[in-house]
Amino acid sequence: MGGAGYIGSHTVYELIDAGRDVVVADNLQTGFRAAVHPKARFYQLDIRDRAALDVLFQAEKIDGVIHFTASSQEGESMSDPLKYYDNNLYGTMVLLQAMVAHGVDTKSGLLSTWILELL
Ligand SMILES: NC(=O)c1ccc[n+]([C@@H]2O[C@H](COP(=O)([O-])OP(=O)(O)OC[C@H]3O[C@@H](n4cnc5c(N)ncnc54)[C@H](O)[C@@H]3O)[C@@H](O)[C@H]2O)c1
Repeated sequence: MGGAGYIGSHTVYELIDAGRDVVVADNLQTGFRAAVHPKARFYQLDIRDRAALDVLFQAEKIDGVIHFTASSQEGESMSDPLKYYDNNLYGTMVLLQAMVAHGVDTKSGLLSTWILELL
């Protein structure tokens, strides 16, 4: 998730270079379609859109999720915190609910950069 962004797109290149099969989902709010590795299958979706996540999880065999999706501008997070709660907290909740519904392990199968930052 967020594989068209700065950190995510580099990670996708590393994963594909390591021989992994990668699916990228991103709403392109700050990411770029051109940054997505050409071998990655791309879904333009918002992680708060449960129906769109259901389509992805039904179409693809997902073993694990790396969650780079976030709003991440420090200044904006102070001036507009609700935007950040909505995208980062609510978005992660919808993603976790979809993973549970589709049998993707949320304990070992989810790695999130912004959750790690909170720890
Ligand atoms: N850039 C850094 O130096 C750095 C360092 C440490 C941690 N991080 C963390 O890594 C994460 C990614 O950071 P980044 O710098 O790559 O940011 P970025 O903005 O380049 O990437 C975020 C990606 O998520 C996508 N996105 C955002 N909200 C979405 C949504 N609701 N649905 C679908 N896609 C959505 C954006 O379009 C973008 O492609 C953030 O949590 C950030 O805090 C970044």
